[in-house]
Amino acid sequence: MTKIFLYKLSINIILLIFLFIISFNNSIAGAGSKEIEDIQIDKNPLTLNEDNIFKGKKLWRKTGCYSCHGGNAEGGVGPSLQDDIWVYKPNDKMLFKTIAKGRSGTVMVAWESELSQTEIWEIIIFIRSLYTGDKSKIIW
Ligand code: HEC
Repeated sequence: MTKIFLYKLSINIILLIFLFIISFNNSIAGAGSKEIEDIQIDKNPLTLNEDNIFKGKKLWRKTGCYSCHGGNAEGGVGPSLQDDIWVYKPNDKMLFKTIAKGRSGTVMVAWESELSQTEIWEIIIFIRSLYTGDKSKIIW
């Protein structure tokens, strides 16, 4: 009787430890999709300066965005991100969501497991630095 009880108890403890590790991992890696909904994603918290542009450019190359959008986001398989032609309204939130979650039904996949939130914002800074469109149309 006690043996069975102890057995059940230890299984429960193992399960609890397991759940704890999973939730802990998610909170430090920032990879959980829930986390991304929790953070402030309406406005880029980073400033457009040389340092952040440089970081974003490095990530743009490292992650492979260039292979579809071009080295300076001039367009290729993926659309140009320099001009005024956007699929959706190009505010910070749309860019963040697109990069984090991807666009279902297209080859634009989700990058949230590879990029931290800060890294996504750094890439967005890089994209903003490339803008060649009409400045009066800037809504971000
Ligand atoms: C395999 C090719 C591919 C790769 C790699 C890729 N993209 Fe895309 N991306 C696309 C396509 C195709 C679209 C257009 C999706 C659609 O029609 O809604 C797109 C759309 C976008 C948009 C929205 C454009 C708009 O007009 O709404 C952004 C921003 C973007 N990508 C950023 C990135 C970033 C940042 C990376 C790297 C982390 C990346 N993409 C990697 C193919 C790619």
